[in-house]
Amino acid sequence: MEIKSAEFIASYTTYSDCPEPVIPEYAFVGRSNVGKSSLINMLMDRKKLAKTSQSPGKTQLINSFFINKKWYLVDLPGYGYAKVAKSIRKDFNKLIKDYAEFRKNLMCLFVLLDSRHAPQQNDLEFMRWLGEKQIPFVMIFTKTDKLSSSAFNKNLMHYKKEMLKSWEVLPELFVTSSEQKIGRTEILSFISKVNESADLKN
Ligand code: GTP
Ligand code: MG
Repeated sequence: MEIKSAEFIASYTTYSDCPEPVIPEYAFVGRSNVGKSSLINMLMDRKKLAKTSQSPGKTQLINSFFINKKWYLVDLPGYGYAKVAKSIRKDFNKLIKDYAEFRKNLMCLFVLLDSRHAPQQNDLEFMRWLGEKQIPFVMIFTKTDKLSSSAFNKNLMHYKKEMLKSWEVLPELFVTSSEQKIGRTEILSFISKVNESADLKN
């Protein structure tokens, strides 16, 4: 898929304020600093469409973008960042979970996982919750430029093994680096394929 246009629409504090759910939507979710906003910029081929930062907790609202005048893309705040006050962390978690559960046109959630780390409890719990709620998602490993391919493969094996403890079939999985533009074609064709099958009338 070619990206012909990518426009920022607005930021929202709750899913119910988001644009009318009449076209397909995809959202990026994951722990703070995992690289959600950077991945969006890489996919859209725009350096500053979504705001990124070296310090976790940059994205604090539901940020909506309108792509190719056909679908929405959403940048979400990170979950589980220890240094954010507990009360705010709770609000973020509620915002994310409500969004994931109730946003009618959400076609797929992209759950980002830092490829340098071993499986983290809050990521596993979040994905288990998505499974229980039957919310469609795929796993995206980020920042693969930061480790060797053998180290990455080892982490990936570990992840798959951990996931197979609660999943019979693993969700689809993408490997990315926003720095090196890895994974762009694969993710955009995935979105394109899902867009084609979307029928929001049901
Ligand atoms: P929050 O909005 O705080 O939840 O963070 P986020 O998940 O949106 O992360 P963001 O995209 O702001 O990136 C966090 C940091 O990681 C920034 O310093 C990015 O430059 C860096 N980063 C993101 N993706 C990559 C990548 O693929 N490779 C490398 N080397 N650095 C990356
Ligand atoms: Mg962000």
